[in-house]
Amino acid sequence: MTAGKPAYYVTTPIYYVNDAPHIGHAYTTLACDVLARFKRLDGYDVRFLTGTDEHGQKVEQSAEKAGVDPQSFTDKVSQNFRELSKLLNFTNDDFIRTTEPRHRASCQALWKKLVEAGDIYLGTYAGWYAVRDEAFYAESELEDGPDGKKIAPSGAECDWVEEESYFFRLSAWGERLLKFYDENPDFILPPSRRNEVVSFVKGGLKDLSISRTTFSWGIPVPDAPGHIMYVWLDALTNYITAVGFPDQEAEDFKTFWPADVHMVGKDILRFHAVYWPAFLMAAGVAPPKRVYAHGWWTNEGQKISKSLGNVIVPSELVATYGLDQVRYFLLREVPFGNDGDFSRKAMIGRMNYDLANQFGNLAQRVLSMIAKNCEGRVPQPGTLQPEDQALLDAASALLPELRTEMDGQQFHSALIKVWEVVGAANRYIDHAAPWTLKKSDPARMATVLYVLAEAIRRLALLSQPVMPDAMARMLDQLAVDPNARGFEALEAALEAGTVLPQPQPIFPRFVEEEAAAQGSGA
Ligand code: ME8
Ligand code: MG
Repeated sequence: MTAGKPAYYVTTPIYYVNDAPHIGHAYTTLACDVLARFKRLDGYDVRFLTGTDEHGQKVEQSAEKAGVDPQSFTDKVSQNFRELSKLLNFTNDDFIRTTEPRHRASCQALWKKLVEAGDIYLGTYAGWYAVRDEAFYAESELEDGPDGKKIAPSGAECDWVEEESYFFRLSAWGERLLKFYDENPDFILPPSRRNEVVSFVKGGLKDLSISRTTFSWGIPVPDAPGHIMYVWLDALTNYITAVGFPDQEAEDFKTFWPADVHMVGKDILRFHAVYWPAFLMAAGVAPPKRVYAHGWWTNEGQKISKSLGNVIVPSELVATYGLDQVRYFLLREVPFGNDGDFSRKAMIGRMNYDLANQFGNLAQRVLSMIAKNCEGRVPQPGTLQPEDQALLDAASALLPELRTEMDGQQFHSALIKVWEVVGAANRYIDHAAPWTLKKSDPARMATVLYVLAEAIRRLALLSQPVMPDAMARMLDQLAVDPNARGFEALEAALEAGTVLPQPQPIFPRFVEEEAAAQGSGA
């Protein structure tokens, strides 16, 4: 741990490598990236983990289809998720692959702890399994599909499985889980999801099959030839592997575990909020502090799926609308926790209105007036009027509010609060009308432009986690020292006389192709 800094550990799910990264994966990792960036700027020692889930039947089958062995297959396709990080400017500190030696050792050590605790026994599994979900289902949960297949609530087809298997005594953990949820009311967020989990556990838990014998692509169970670990036990363990497990005395483990947030989609909440804390408690390891289950994206109102051919490819979004525009849209458009719909219209609306008109235009107006009327230097303010101070105070007052929103993973609320001050700055400039003061009261004009530039500096500092590139450019235009952009810089102020670079627009407007085409008579 970096001396004196509080620690913060945030994780994404590790993604199945058989899928190409799409907007859903981008969304989860983006949310974590924003938390990580916010906490770093706020003085925390941050660990931000993402990676790929590479074992199990589903990946094995995909490798077979691709005609390669699973190791070469995963070596190749896990690269797609590293590229997603680069493309979207994610700042993960680590990228874990479940095929790494560090992870095999960690899983086997966890297994041994569960055996020592008396929570594992050998039996026979006879029941339904969905390879797509890598999940077991009770018959009562399933519906009959058209061709006699059983269908899981997720829509995945199930197969009947009957094989020797090790079991985890999950049935013994119900009461202790309920007590844990009770004592940690924010362990599962949002609250609606918490209620779902609580009623699932109250309904009674069955022991969980945690090894398979009918295929081999996985981590071998210690001292049990022929058995490989259930892919979810393997996958969940990644969160502790990455901080040094099984060495619980490791500096990283002591610093970062228990994790502050496991960010997941609502589809995989049960694994994270029921199985995972049960495994950990059984092994004598502290459960994570929070599992946040966010909602599901659709595309123009439709479920996103390969077969419908409507998968939203992150690189295409970025190429069309711009990186920080996409980052802003995803977190601003949908209250975090709710399901959301991607629509081109909504994306363009956010891009043109919130970003170009409201924030971009504000900066552009102020910076070009300073360039023209103040010799391109930060103007010298006179005595501040109450309205001047009010705007500056409103910008500074954002920090504690944003801390609260970020600690509750309420990204949309954080952005709404920032934009309230952007709106206040726009009303201030319209009211103070510095362009009318050039001749009548140049000293007042200088004060007004100073106040605006300083308010923009504060807004830009606070908006860095969501729009790192655009805000870096905005801060460059205010000649803010690149090494003084942490939130402690909110207490500083622009220095009058500082030479500013030539202003450049930061948020372009999106011009509809159809409109452009019509204009050209096409
Ligand atoms: O489940 N909307 O991996 P996975 C929002 N390997 N989020 C979406 C989404 C959508 N339409 N589609 C996917 C697995 N996601 C396991 C995880 S963790 C120990 C193991 C996101 O590749 C969302 O975060 O199927 C979801 O939970 C995750 O991708 C599932 O990724
Ligand atoms: Mg999935």
